[in-house]
Amino acid sequence: MSEAQEKKKIILSGIQPTGVFTLGNYLGAVKNWQQMQEDYQCYYFIADLHSLTVHIDPKLRKQQSLQAFALLLACGIDPEKSLIFVQSHVPTHAEMGWILACCSQFGELSRMTQFKDKSAKHPENINAGLFTYPSLMAGDILLYQADYVPVGADQTQHLEFTRDIATRFNHVYGETFKLPEGYFPKLGARVMSLQEPTSKMSKSDTNPNATISILDEENVIIKKFKRAVTDSEMEVVFREGKDGINNLMTIYSAVTGKSLDDITSEFAGKGYGDFKAAVGEAVAEELRPVREKYAELMGDKAELERLMKQGAEIATKISSRTLTKARKKVGLYITK
Ligand code: TYM
Repeated sequence: MSEAQEKKKIILSGIQPTGVFTLGNYLGAVKNWQQMQEDYQCYYFIADLHSLTVHIDPKLRKQQSLQAFALLLACGIDPEKSLIFVQSHVPTHAEMGWILACCSQFGELSRMTQFKDKSAKHPENINAGLFTYPSLMAGDILLYQADYVPVGADQTQHLEFTRDIATRFNHVYGETFKLPEGYFPKLGARVMSLQEPTSKMSKSDTNPNATISILDEENVIIKKFKRAVTDSEMEVVFREGKDGINNLMTIYSAVTGKSLDDITSEFAGKGYGDFKAAVGEAVAEELRPVREKYAELMGDKAELERLMKQGAEIATKISSRTLTKARKKVGLYITK
């Protein structure tokens, strides 16, 4: 790392490898990660340990990690500029997660919306990992002394938790962690389902028309937008109660850079059909290079593995500094 890079503010973020990223992941997170690479020292990782909270076929999990790593690169995350790694390749995360789990209270973990939602949805698998998930996530962030954490709006509570834990740890044991700030995109922080626009677009949605995957073919994308749920009015305007149209306008604006007012003018006097077709085409166009690059990258597994190893080595070195500090602070015995 050059001296200039060392002085830049640190950005850190992660994404779970649970299936192909959605347009929500892309607009709410990864597209912004790509744009931050010039101005910040960026660390991005595949959160595979977090994904263990959901039980799937191990062969599929393994394949998904490789695919997610390739997707990050396909979205323009450049290993020459940013550090990219797989969480389980860097053993400091699990240890820091445990140290922080021991500083997390049952009450505060019980209040996490994601925990409550996921346990309500899957009562058959409320595992301890799901419960201590925020402690592991806090460890991911604090290990790297991150200044900013770019995430979608659904992760706000986990970030606040991270700040609370860091503040508590620093208070009890002395200054150890930097307090990270959230970094939310102006547009796209909450991309909603195309079929149920009051819920967020999610990889786990069982209705395929609700979600755009960033590898969907052009005609599939256009068809899904045509079927998007809207309302019985005719006006393309951002207004309370028009959840479907608000979502489509947000997506169109995030992709084209046009303001919401400009979009309203552009479609004045036209029907929803024209608007939906335009959104579909703009999204398909935006994602075309990602699809093409992904296909190319998946053809060279050896190179992907080389990059994974390179990332893991650097990440282990950087994160070990904070882990050693934290171990000493809590009184773990360290031999000379
Ligand atoms: P994950 O994998 O669920 O999502 C990755 C990123 O995508 C954002 N996102 C969305 N943004 C807008 N609209 C949506 N519909 C939408 N769906 C997802 C998420 O906010 C996130 O930024 N816990 C994290 C992974 C993680 C992490 C970390 C993130 C683990 N450790 C440390 C930051 C820092 C998660 O499950 O993200």
